[in-house]
Amino acid sequence: MTTRRQFLRGSVAAGAAAVTSSFISRSAYAAGRDEIRVGLIGCGGRGSDAAMNNVLAAAENVKIVSLGDVFKEPIDRLRRSLTSKFGKDKVDIPDERVHVGLDAYEKVINDDVNYVILATPPGFRPLHLEAAVKAGRHIFTEKPVCVDGPGYRRCLKAYEEAKTKKLGIVAGTQRRHQAGYLDTIRRIHDGAIGEIVSARCYWNGGDIWFKERLPGMTDVAYHCYNWYHFLWTCGDHIVEQHIHNIDVINWAMQALPVRATGMGGRSRRDPSDPRERPDPRVAGQIFDHFAVEFTYPNGVVLNSYCRQITGCDGNISEALVGTKGRAQVNEYQINGKRVFQGREQNPYIQEHTDLIESIRRGEPLNELKTVADSSLTAIMGRMATYTGREVTWDEAANSDVDTYPKNLTWDMSLEVAPAPIPGSGQRRRPRRS
Ligand SMILES: NC(=O)c1ccc[n+]([C@@H]2O[C@H](COP(=O)([O-])OP(=O)(O)OC[C@H]3O[C@@H](n4cnc5c(N)ncnc54)[C@H](O)[C@@H]3O)[C@@H](O)[C@H]2O)c1
Repeated sequence: MTTRRQFLRGSVAAGAAAVTSSFISRSAYAAGRDEIRVGLIGCGGRGSDAAMNNVLAAAENVKIVSLGDVFKEPIDRLRRSLTSKFGKDKVDIPDERVHVGLDAYEKVINDDVNYVILATPPGFRPLHLEAAVKAGRHIFTEKPVCVDGPGYRRCLKAYEEAKTKKLGIVAGTQRRHQAGYLDTIRRIHDGAIGEIVSARCYWNGGDIWFKERLPGMTDVAYHCYNWYHFLWTCGDHIVEQHIHNIDVINWAMQALPVRATGMGGRSRRDPSDPRERPDPRVAGQIFDHFAVEFTYPNGVVLNSYCRQITGCDGNISEALVGTKGRAQVNEYQINGKRVFQGREQNPYIQEHTDLIESIRRGEPLNELKTVADSSLTAIMGRMATYTGREVTWDEAANSDVDTYPKNLTWDMSLEVAPAPIPGSGQRRRPRRS
């Protein structure tokens, strides 16, 4: 007789769609016996934590079985720490399921896994999402899920395919799995502050990390290593980081902005004298501050600020003003009073719990469109700021500016354009070495 486990394995070869429909069938999960076999792509800080969160999210039958990264070192570190923390019951990563390189994602996805965690730099996400959906895997994906218009459109296609295949996809916009946020937003939707008339959100913090290029690194290796500072890998911090706060406002508004206008620059990452500016191939090209005004279809304006400059005031928050009051959403406050009194689970664990439970119920969550929409909101803000022009939703969504290098290989050389100058209508010419 074929065991359920053998069936799952066999189905991988027979076809992803078969695995999927069987994997999520209600009866198959009634006893909670089927194993969730997890592959992780991107074994850095967040990926390592996400793997642990995943193991802690389900009481039984969840196992980390495959790891991939472009570098071996983070994999080795994580394999050691997972094994020593959780033991063989929860972790089974033999050498043949350790994958290093730009194609590691394909190897993880095609291992004997049915659930993948995508935690590489965001620029790779559309490619990895497409491959995981194609293979019929359930997905936990870190945010953002795209860094440009073409990436957004690939996500929307993957979302539709995942819906057809009944795949679960949960995104690392963890506030949507955080009890206090859920409670506060529900009250706002129920009318606690009346109709929303204005909104603001911030991620104003200090400088982000910077990793020096190591001897022997190719351009692509350096970009994967120091990924935060390059547009194609990161999307800039309005997209990579501030998406969290922008997503909360989209959620509260139950709508997406139709246009954006913004200003920003790179006031501390570069010296003020352009002649002294460092080579963008080393220093990168992202801004360190953005102030963007987003307008929603009903005319409501969201003021969004984000900054990565040490020594300035910090503020990470989301607030709304309505016809009947105000909400400080991040503090779970309505009209100055904290409304959420419940107990909060760690949202980084809760997001995996919610995904796993939805798969086991046979009603998989699919958040890919929601997180893609919030990623594009931030991309639209970045485009408006970089150009100094108003950018509409349609312009951002249909943009053909593809930031991903053509025919990417590990050894290719990469040009890096300097940070854009708003108003110039074009990028500055690259600095000659
Ligand atoms: N939800 C949150 O609160 C939260 C917090 C931190 C980071 N993140 C997100 O998690 C993602 C990863 O961030 P991080 O802080 O872990 O960065 P990190 O640099 O610590 O880890 C990224 C890992 O990906 C690897 N990598 C790079 N390119 C790769 C590729 N093409 N294929 C496979 N592996 C590749 C790197 O070698 C590195 O080990 C980002 O999208 C980030 O926005 C989310």
